[in-house]
Amino acid sequence: QSHFDSQKELAGKKVLITAGPTYELLDPVRFIGNHSSGKMGVAIANELANRGAEVTLVLGPSNVSVDEKRIKTFHVTSAKEMYDVCVEQFPQMNVAVMAAAVADYTPVNTFSEKIKKNDGNLVLELQKTKDILKSLGEIKKDNQLLIGFALETKNEVEYAKSKLKDKNADIIVLNSLRDKGAGFGTDTNKITIFEKSGTATTYDQKDKALVAKDIADVIVKNIYA
Ligand code: CTP
Ligand code: CA
Repeated sequence: QSHFDSQKELAGKKVLITAGPTYELLDPVRFIGNHSSGKMGVAIANELANRGAEVTLVLGPSNVSVDEKRIKTFHVTSAKEMYDVCVEQFPQMNVAVMAAAVADYTPVNTFSEKIKKNDGNLVLELQKTKDILKSLGEIKKDNQLLIGFALETKNEVEYAKSKLKDKNADIIVLNSLRDKGAGFGTDTNKITIFEKSGTATTYDQKDKALVAKDIADVIVKNIYA
């Protein structure tokens, strides 16, 4: 940190960010994952660090490069590992941004040997993972700001609003998957931001680095509100 950082708008603010997918192991060679690249969450981490925040990133398996000298990074694999780091870190934080695509279900058993194929079908038993955003919402203090994402393929406004309420979040960022050039793996995104106050703002499709600036502006506005 340089002495200029003390003059930046997020100087002295500690921010926790989750990003990327999680991998739920089935056996030594297989996992259940998803298409999240981690680009959006890492772009938010970079933008908030540029504004002077002290950023802690909890990153699932991702090829996106992170400047780990500037951003304290915990590399995790599973939803359980991501949950454990977040619950431990959150009490020290001013802001948390849950941008990861966390698995909702994980195998009941991880086999220690490779599963061999058979003549019949394979049935996998899955159990629910813990909801990290919801868990942080339950322990959140009045001076902490909690931001979640929502990824929907239908009824997106209704579902995004219910996530805001159900998870005790202050802000929900809705990813519009309907639009080409938005969502997984792409370099651009199209979002609507829902705030607890009832405000909903829809933005144009743009580069994820610029989407991160829009999100950072709303975070700054809410921190100092
Ligand atoms: N999330 C989380 N932990 C989980 C699942 C989701 O922290 N185990 C967070 C995501 O990081 C995101 C928000 O919850 O910020 C919403 O995730 P999303 O998958 O859109 O919604 P879910 O609540 O998981 O519900 P569903 O997938 O059924 O729509
Ligand atoms: Ca989910």
